[in-house]
Amino acid sequence: MNQQQDQEHRPCYILAVETSCDETSVAIIEDGRIIRSNVISSQIDIHKQYGGVVPEVASRKHVESITWIIEQAIQEAGVAPEDLSAVAVTQGPGLVGSLLVGMIAGKALAFSLQLPLIAVHHIAGHIYANTLVHDMEYPLVCLVVSGGHTELIVMEAPGDFHIIGRTRDDAVGEAYDKVARALGLPYPGGPYLDKLAQQASSALPLPRAWLEPDSYDFSFSGIKSAVLAALNQAKMKGLVLDPAHVARGFQESVCDVLTEKAMRAVKEYGAKQLVLAGGVAANQGLRERLEARCAEAGIPLLAPSLILCTDNAAMIGAAAYLKWQRQQFASLDLKAEPILPLEEWLKL
Ligand code: KG4
Ligand code: ZN
Repeated sequence: MNQQQDQEHRPCYILAVETSCDETSVAIIEDGRIIRSNVISSQIDIHKQYGGVVPEVASRKHVESITWIIEQAIQEAGVAPEDLSAVAVTQGPGLVGSLLVGMIAGKALAFSLQLPLIAVHHIAGHIYANTLVHDMEYPLVCLVVSGGHTELIVMEAPGDFHIIGRTRDDAVGEAYDKVARALGLPYPGGPYLDKLAQQASSALPLPRAWLEPDSYDFSFSGIKSAVLAALNQAKMKGLVLDPAHVARGFQESVCDVLTEKAMRAVKEYGAKQLVLAGGVAANQGLRERLEARCAEAGIPLLAPSLILCTDNAAMIGAAAYLKWQRQQFASLDLKAEPILPLEEWLKL
């Protein structure tokens, strides 16, 4: 094999860094699909005591962990630093102080190893977590449900993101966490509320926020307020509502709306697949409901494994591969962006 052939057959190893919120994570992804390592250090135990993420504390914790996590990811992958092909970093959206830590670490590594730098959109990462587990077939509809985002996206081709609906107020994960807090559950409350809802034998009747009949947008602040009002009214009467009954009512209201709108989009856009992404994609209630509706519609529901639903660097490495294939690299003066549009992220 001559040198050029050898270059062509060399695997692409992307070292990816994710620090947009409260998880410090570094992964090495081979050819956009194979996870060689995916080290995740969660700060949940620290933020739990405050009932939510404290941005300043998050940044400091990222600074403390990023170096050993990079070292561990390289070691676990069994890939020598000189065999890396590129370094990818989450550019945004996210907490700016948190993003900055990963970005500076990624730039330092790219500069010292003389590697190209790839800027990744966090939501593109959540969506592309699916490619680590399944093949995506276009056109597809993607339902992104996380702590910071709730979006319905149509994709006609790889990297071609067309947002057709988004939340007008709270993100779905945020609503889960706020309702869970009102029920006295630990932070982040989404998974606890999900478990509680599964145990309930009845559901508190709550409204559904359908918005205008043809809208794909969402709204979750009304349902959150309705739960808080029900809890307060019961308290004033000296009653205590069964938390499982409340959790089930909330879960059903939220999942009904997410499922109906996603399935309407599947039909309207002739989607071959429904793709679920983001932390709330771990929700059992939502998965079961979508699974049943997709089976009825005769299309597969794609969802990442639970560890790839919440924030991790493997998903950033998977999305970075799109830019690697197009040789779309960033310069070392790349800035962290707390708000970053998804639709223009990749030049098609
Ligand atoms: O994607 P992610 O890790 O971070 C963001 O980019 O926002 O999502 C975190 C969110 C939190 O709000 C958490 O409560 C929620 O995902 N979450 C869940 C479940 N697992 C995580 N929400 C409902 N049910 C779950 N099983
Ligand atoms: Zn996320």
